[in-house]
Amino acid sequence: SGAARPRLAFLGTGYLGATYAICFAELGYEVLGFDVDEAKIAKLAGGAVPFHEPGLDELLRRNLAAGRLRFTTDYKETADFADVHFICVGTPQRADGMGADLVYVEAAVTGLAQHLTRKALIVGKSTVPVGTAEWVEQLVGKHAPADLGIEVAWSPEFLQEGFAVEDVLRPNRIVIGVKSEWANAMLYASHKGVFDLAATEDREVPLVVTDFATAELVKVAANAFLATKISFINAMAEVCEVAGGDVTQLARSIGYDPRIGNRFLQAGVGFGGGCLPKDIRAFQARAQELGAGEALRFLHEVDLINLRRRTRVLQLAAELLGRRSGPAGPDLSGTRVAVLGATFKPNSDDVRDAPSLAVAALLAKAGADVRVYDPEGMENAKVAQPDLAYEPSMNDAVRGADLVCVLTEWADFRNADPVALGELAAGRRVIDGRNCLDSALWTHAGWEYRGM
Ligand code: UGA
Repeated sequence: SGAARPRLAFLGTGYLGATYAICFAELGYEVLGFDVDEAKIAKLAGGAVPFHEPGLDELLRRNLAAGRLRFTTDYKETADFADVHFICVGTPQRADGMGADLVYVEAAVTGLAQHLTRKALIVGKSTVPVGTAEWVEQLVGKHAPADLGIEVAWSPEFLQEGFAVEDVLRPNRIVIGVKSEWANAMLYASHKGVFDLAATEDREVPLVVTDFATAELVKVAANAFLATKISFINAMAEVCEVAGGDVTQLARSIGYDPRIGNRFLQAGVGFGGGCLPKDIRAFQARAQELGAGEALRFLHEVDLINLRRRTRVLQLAAELLGRRSGPAGPDLSGTRVAVLGATFKPNSDDVRDAPSLAVAALLAKAGADVRVYDPEGMENAKVAQPDLAYEPSMNDAVRGADLVCVLTEWADFRNADPVALGELAAGRRVIDGRNCLDSALWTHAGWEYRGM
């Protein structure tokens, strides 16, 4: 096998790697997914996706059955199999809270490199501090047999949870950082399925071929921009609130300007998840190390605006429940609060850094009897926040509540009947933490409604 139809390995079958492995098999490539986690590999090999992502289960089963997709925990098998190895392992926030931890990248690269027996390309996909690709190159130099000429490249990904299959099969761009024509050709061949699919649909996928540093920076720059956009509109929400404006109409109005665009201008309880919050912190830390800390100082403000949204919900809750705030914050003891939503966004079971769960914890800390319900995130939420009380349905959570907080905009909540819920609740007070409810409908049903 060679550049015509390279065989692909994806190392790390978490959210990113599993989605890529499955989607590239769907595009016709022969694919191997590798992970050190035996349980995860057994699950995937058995046809079950270990996380919630619309459409992915079906693709997994189809491509397993077609024999194009296999999974392994064996580095040697991976090294023997693939021409191009994509590193998709996690890069969690370091214990010090700022920079990214590269232990998994290091383990995957060294584990693989020492078993390689022929020329291959190692491509980084994980979100990393700029400079990591050069470091990976050195690692490979140290651990792979020198005569093989193993090369390194970088290709960031931009997939959004809930839309991951679409984002991989039909990306809005492909960015590759390479140092040689050979690496460029191998990566082109590795993505030819994506370009071919686009051609049959009369689309084009822009391809940016650049250097390592730019490829690495594109990823964090994109996430920093998205986070900034969200905090910008949340800052406007703060001003609207004191000025008596409506941030939803404001967002719609500025969004008609194509230079601004109407997406990612949804004000609410702010951004969470495994990417935006940690990426903007790691980006600041890296810029600081490089002596450009000042350039990214605004990202600190973006972070603060975002975190302020969480405490704002707590203040609103106190206001609605008629509780005064002391120096230690409001006392909500004796109240019961339904928290609807535990995931960081709808159509996902991911609760990492979820604003909803953070707010639920704040409410509980203030003394409220908090009852959480989420359509897909309950299992993960119970692990992340074991001290909170969980209810098996929306109705169970709302029954007897003095206040309802909608903190993730699941369709189940947006389409809920405020009349029926009003009969279950002890008090008809609702905080719309995502500005996703029809306020007229809720008000008409007798609810005291507060948006963000
Ligand atoms: C984000 C980026 O959107 C992807 O492009 C990127 O590839 C990914 O991170 C990553 O680095 O892997 P994701 O974390 O799946 O994707 O979630 P988003 O859809 O970006 O939402 C992030 C958070 O922002 C959510 O909590 C969401 O509720 C919030 N958000 C989003 C808002 O509060 N307002 C908006 O207008 C949009």
